Amino acid sequence: MCTAAQSVREIVTRQPSAAGIFHRFDIDLCLQADLSLEEACQELQLSVDQVLEKLADAEAQGCCGVALDPENLSLSRLIQHIVRVHHNCVRQELPRLAEMASKLSAKRSDREPQLTKIAELIEMLRGEMYAHIQKEEQVLFPFISQMDQESIVAYPPAHACFRSVTHPIFMMEQEHESADHIVAELIRLTNHFEPPSWACAMHIALFSGLRQFEADLRQHVHLENDILFPGAIQLEAEIKARR
Ligand SMILES: [Fe+2]
Ligand SMILES: [Fe+2]
Repeated sequence: MCTAAQSVREIVTRQPSAAGIFHRFDIDLCLQADLSLEEACQELQLSVDQVLEKLADAEAQGCCGVALDPENLSLSRLIQHIVRVHHNCVRQELPRLAEMASKLSAKRSDREPQLTKIAELIEMLRGEMYAHIQKEEQVLFPFISQMDQESIVAYPPAHACFRSVTHPIFMMEQEHESADHIVAELIRLTNHFEPPSWACAMHIALFSGLRQFEADLRQHVHLENDILFPGAIQLEAEIKARR
């Protein structure tokens, strides 16, 4: 829980989602980083209680770290969880991180030239991940969900634009690898998301946001590659064997 006495820098270091809240209230992560939240709010004539309330809401709704027992979920429920938690994280976090990286690169790339490359990589990751989750949500996941229902009522699988679920799964796994390469490059360029000692609050917020996103992406890909996709391939084989 954040307090009004903590500095803007301390708050974004502890809670990466705070950067988005500060942006909405026009609290400047560079110029006001060393002020307490109370002082920053006074300068802008904001209600500190209102800002604290939004910070607490954002912390409670954090997109990462949701407890789950995936082994005991049906494939349909697992898909619901992946979309609600992890695809939502892609949609919420990547635009925010891309915007922060672009602003930071404009301000600080003279001192840290890698920031330009970091901003480009986040933008590339955003483009790839948006297209990827669209394909999953519009093509692959509805097909798996339908198979999951059909395994109970024993209907033949729905007509689809592929002969076997293994084909789109292979494509999705290749796209996961591509995202993994981009993230590996980000880890290298950010020194494992460790900001330099001179970093401003926006720099700290970007790196801790990236660290949190990387952990969420790792869990997202694990649920798909290791649980959902093998489960869907097995289910398809069982349905075909019954015919
Ligand atoms: Fe996904
Ligand atoms: Fe995926």
